[in-house]
Amino acid sequence: MSELPRLTVIGTGYLGATHAVCMAELGFEVLGLDIDEAKVESLQQGRVPFFEPGLPELLQKNLDSGRLRFTTSYEEVGAFGDVPFVCVGTPQKLGEYAADLTFVDAAFAALVPCARAGSLLVGKSTVPAGTAERLAALLEQARGAEVDLAWNPEFLREGFAVEDTLAPDRLVFGVRPGERGQRAEQQLRAAFAPVIGRHNGGPTPVVVTDLATAQLVKVAANAFLATKISFINAMAEVCEATGGDVTMLSKALSYDDRIGGRFLHAGLGFGGGCLPKDIRAFMARAGELGVDQALSFLKEVDAINLRRRARMVEIAREEVGGSFGGMRVAVLGAAFKPNSDDIRDSPALDVAATIQRQGAAVCLYDPAAMDNARIKCPELGYRDSALDAAKGADLVLHLTEWTEFREMEPAALSEVVAERRMVDGRNALDPERWRSAGWTYRALGRP
Ligand SMILES: NC(=O)c1ccc[n+]([C@@H]2O[C@H](COP(=O)([O-])OP(=O)(O)OC[C@H]3O[C@@H](n4cnc5c(N)ncnc54)[C@H](O)[C@@H]3O)[C@@H](O)[C@H]2O)c1
Repeated sequence: MSELPRLTVIGTGYLGATHAVCMAELGFEVLGLDIDEAKVESLQQGRVPFFEPGLPELLQKNLDSGRLRFTTSYEEVGAFGDVPFVCVGTPQKLGEYAADLTFVDAAFAALVPCARAGSLLVGKSTVPAGTAERLAALLEQARGAEVDLAWNPEFLREGFAVEDTLAPDRLVFGVRPGERGQRAEQQLRAAFAPVIGRHNGGPTPVVVTDLATAQLVKVAANAFLATKISFINAMAEVCEATGGDVTMLSKALSYDDRIGGRFLHAGLGFGGGCLPKDIRAFMARAGELGVDQALSFLKEVDAINLRRRARMVEIAREEVGGSFGGMRVAVLGAAFKPNSDDIRDSPALDVAATIQRQGAAVCLYDPAAMDNARIKCPELGYRDSALDAAKGADLVLHLTEWTEFREMEPAALSEVVAERRMVDGRNALDPERWRSAGWTYRALGRP
């Protein structure tokens, strides 16, 4: 058997299932746990219950190798290994900005009594600063010095989750002060040994911090990325008022290395299970800490982001003559971004549902997110292809930039639509190609 430590993963959703599979791929024996029996059953049968390129193959391979298993039993997890990674969800509380920590608290409450002496409980979920310290105090009360806690925030991107987990751009280890922290760091270095050695062009950078900083790194990173997207979307608003073209503006800005071109792409804005709820939870926590002014700009970042959705609906309405009543609208895309089936806070689905509520008959197609979208928005029409969705449409909206949509032939769509009108919510189609095929082409932030 391997000399690597045996690892356990608590919560096998987008983050946890990927972490469990990739750690097994790196040679660890891994036991994954979830309270959702159907999810555990599906993973144990070799079916990834969500869309993530490359993950199904690695799941099957590692189930076959015997290095990976899934369970619903915390007792089994406690007996199996001494480095459990907690990857449960931290959604936004209903009707509030703050994070709902119910799942994190429940996972630790179940884990603490059954963790073996010498275990290091590792939080990976994105949590408000202060959560790890609160959990550490509870742990101290329950188990004294027998069991320790660390925080190891996760930066993987859905769609690239396998690659990001096997070769992350950095690892952050938040540990407690003193000798305990040194021991925790050693345990974490052992649990990531194959990852640390795999970085392109040298070892993966490891940043060892206190618990507070480790929790903050994740939300600070997401706040920065959200700000960058909303910055260029604010410029799109100004372009719309001045006749400027935000795609040329961002291109020109991107040549300045101090600015850089990534996350500087204007469009329908961000969504998903992380950025929106993380910036809101960050603001809520700052309020509790008495530093709300420090993050008040994030309110505007959020508002700019949501205004893009409203603007998209407005442009679509203008395109069909001022009212959606009796109009057929084809929507291409439901996932919050391409290469994912995640529809949590998806701008595409939000726009589709709003347009349907305003009187249009919406027909939607997405290459991966149809099942999730059907559950969330059963009122929309669903079709099996972009062409089917576009049949008889008075307007086509491009809302998630899947390669399949970017490469679509305008001529093929021309044959099925009622009117050749395209609104590109992602600034990802080539306007000239569409216009020369007889389409009207509109997009956010450009003439
Ligand atoms: N999805 C991402 O790309 C990503 C990236 C970085 C960080 N994160 C963070 O990781 C965390 C998980 O996100 P996700 O997208 O994987 O969420 P998810 O909803 O897909 O998965 C969470 C899983 O935890 C399980 N769970 C809930 N309570 C449990 C308990 N008490 N014991 C065991 N399992 C339990 C749920 O059944 C579910 O399968 C969040 O804090 C998120 O912000 C996510």
